[in-house]
Amino acid sequence: MRVLGIETSCDETGVAICDSEKGLIADALYSQVEMHTQYGGVVPELASRDHIRKVIPLVKEVLQMANMDKSEISAIAFTRGPGLMGALLVGATAARTLAWSLKIPAIGIHHMEGHLLAPMLEKEKPKFPFIALLVSGGHTQLIRVDKLGNYTLLGESLDDAVGEAFDKTAKLLGLPYPGGPSLAKLAEKGNTDRFHFPRPMTNRPGLDFSFSGLKTFAITTVRDNPDDDQTRADIACAFQEAVVDTMVIKCRRAIKETGLKTLVVAGGVGANLRLREALGVEIKRLGGKLYFPGLKYCTDNGAMIAYAGCIRLLQGQEPEESFQPRPRWPLEELF
Ligand code: KG4
Ligand code: ZN
Repeated sequence: MRVLGIETSCDETGVAICDSEKGLIADALYSQVEMHTQYGGVVPELASRDHIRKVIPLVKEVLQMANMDKSEISAIAFTRGPGLMGALLVGATAARTLAWSLKIPAIGIHHMEGHLLAPMLEKEKPKFPFIALLVSGGHTQLIRVDKLGNYTLLGESLDDAVGEAFDKTAKLLGLPYPGGPSLAKLAEKGNTDRFHFPRPMTNRPGLDFSFSGLKTFAITTVRDNPDDDQTRADIACAFQEAVVDTMVIKCRRAIKETGLKTLVVAGGVGANLRLREALGVEIKRLGGKLYFPGLKYCTDNGAMIAYAGCIRLLQGQEPEESFQPRPRWPLEELF
C-alpha cells in the first residue's frame, strides 16, 4: 500500500508518500516562514492562499521523487485538525478531490497523532505503551499512549503552549519569527548563572504546565536590565533552562506515576537540542528509553501524516463520510 500524506494545518505545506513495506519513500516540504516573518507571526489568510499555490506542485514533486504515477497511490491521508480552518480546508479539499478522481479512499488524520507517531519514521521505533510529551506551537501535553488511538491525557498547559512561550519571549528579545529556533541559538551564547527563572507548577503535585508566568518574568527581566547583546543572550539562556528543567521534572513525575519507562517526545519544540540533551540524561538515569523524531520531523511535515494514514489504513480504518475540518479537536476523542 502507498499512502500520499498532505499536511496543511498551519504554515508549512508538507506532502509525502509512505509505503507499507518500505516506509517513507518521498517527502517534500514548503515552509511559509519567510512570508510570515515580516508580520511577526502566521497570518491565517496568507497561509491558506499559499497552501493553494503549493499543494499540487508538491504532490507532483513527491510522485516524481518516488518514480510513481498517481494511479499507483492506494490512499490519501490529510490533516483534518487541529489547526487553522482555512489552511485545513485547502488540504482536505485537495486530498478529497484527488482521492475522488482516483477512486481511492481519503482519511482525515489528527495533526497531534501525526506528531506522536513521527518517531516511528526512525529505524528504532518506540513500542506501546509509552508516555508522549507533545510540545508544539499550540500544544503542551503529556499523554499516556496504550496503543494507536488509545490516548489518555495526563497533563497539559493551562495557558500558553511551550512553543508559544518560546515565540513570545523571542519577540520580546527582538528575535525573528519563528522564535523557538532563534531563541535557542541566542541561548548558546548566554550564561546559565546570571538570571534564574521560576520552574512553574513544579512545587505542587500534578502534571499540568503553565508558561504565561515565564513570559511575564521575561518582560520584567528585560525591563530591569541593560539592553545589550550579552544580557539578551543570558535572558534567552535562563528562559530556556527554566522551560527544559520544568519539562524534565514533569516527565520524571509522569514516569513515576504511570510506571511506564518509555518516553516519546514530539512536536516542534522537540527540535530543541537542550531539551533533547537534558531528557536524554534524565531518562538514562531512570533506566528508561527515550525516542525523538529526526530533527526535520519534529516540526510540521507531510511524512508524519502519510505514516499515520498508512498505519490507520492497515488497521482497517474506513474513510469518514464527513471531511469537515476540525480546527479544535481533542486527541482523546480518537479511537
Ligand atoms: O509542531 P510545530 O512545527 O507546529 C505546530 O503544530 O504548532 O511547532 C512549532 C513550534 C513553534 O512555536 C517554534 O518556535 C517551536 O515549535 N520550535 C522550537 C524549536 N524549533 C521549533 N522551539 C524551541 N527550540 C527549537 N529548536
Ligand atoms: Zn505541528
